[in-house]
Amino acid sequence: MAAIEKIAVLTSGGDSPGMNPCVRAVFHEADSRGVRVVAFRRGYAGLLDNDCFELSSNNVSNIIQRGGTFLLTSRCEDFKLAEAQEEAAKNLSKNGCGGLVVIGGDGTFRGARALAARGVEVVGIPATIDNDVSGTDMAVGTDTAMNSIIEVVDKIKDTASSLERTFVIETMGHGSGFLALMSGIATGAEAVLIPEVEYDLEKIAARIIERYKKGRVSNIIIVAEGASSAYQVSRQLAKIANIVSKITVLGHLQRGGSPSAYDRVLAARLGSAAVGGLLAGKSGCMAGLVKNEIELTHFEEVLREKRELGPNLVRLAEVMGR
Ligand code: F6P
Repeated sequence: MAAIEKIAVLTSGGDSPGMNPCVRAVFHEADSRGVRVVAFRRGYAGLLDNDCFELSSNNVSNIIQRGGTFLLTSRCEDFKLAEAQEEAAKNLSKNGCGGLVVIGGDGTFRGARALAARGVEVVGIPATIDNDVSGTDMAVGTDTAMNSIIEVVDKIKDTASSLERTFVIETMGHGSGFLALMSGIATGAEAVLIPEVEYDLEKIAARIIERYKKGRVSNIIIVAEGASSAYQVSRQLAKIANIVSKITVLGHLQRGGSPSAYDRVLAARLGSAAVGGLLAGKSGCMAGLVKNEIELTHFEEVLREKRELGPNLVRLAEVMGR
């Protein structure tokens, strides 16, 4: 196989803080090995439209601290079509790209798996606030999102305890309870509702009433969007036990902000490993962090099942919220 002289990079799916440092890492690792990098805008949509430019060190300077993705991103439904994947593979070779690095979540890796099946050399980097991708302990962006959540929950706790109120706070996470669970542990929430574990609102209401009797009248209940909505939970608590609660839906603030130190370092490690893997002839796989070491895992395995939370964390949230 001829040596790769040029690779492509794109960010795809929901943006996550740390995508910019990932692109920067891909550029610098490639550049250090004399390999040029072509960036496609708007993820797979740009790959289809051949919307690209060659990166220079100027493009990636001063982006390490910026949230979002300067390459722009999209969720490209058309990419599920075989003709679209064919077109994308053609655009890569038209631009002389012997490999591709895709930065995103599971939807991005489904697209990448389809490209790999068409002979494209492709390696992925997990970047999503949801941390729902198998094959990595942490995805780029999750740590920053958790920090954004706890900053807000801490502020809500100030007012909740001053006015002796119960708050129901809704986090993102799609089908995963990771963000809610970890934020619950980190803020000492009284209850955390996640899609992975069955919950009983009657029991939660009884606990709140019990706490009221003991004089502990402020409560924080965190709800993962995949389990229910803050509005729904608040309505049900009122119905079950006349519990009055205030509602906060954290929404897209969880996806923004300057990437944390952890996410920047993870982005550097995974970006470097993805390029190293591609240039060593690895393809059809994702670079992930497994027990603090970088490992490449095949897309097939990554996509086989959703990342599990593990019973220890669930128990920890229960014990710490008593
Ligand atoms: O996958 C990231 C994520 O932020 C999920 O947590 C959330 O369900 C979804 O994206 C929201 O997507 P959109 O910004 O398109 O509403």
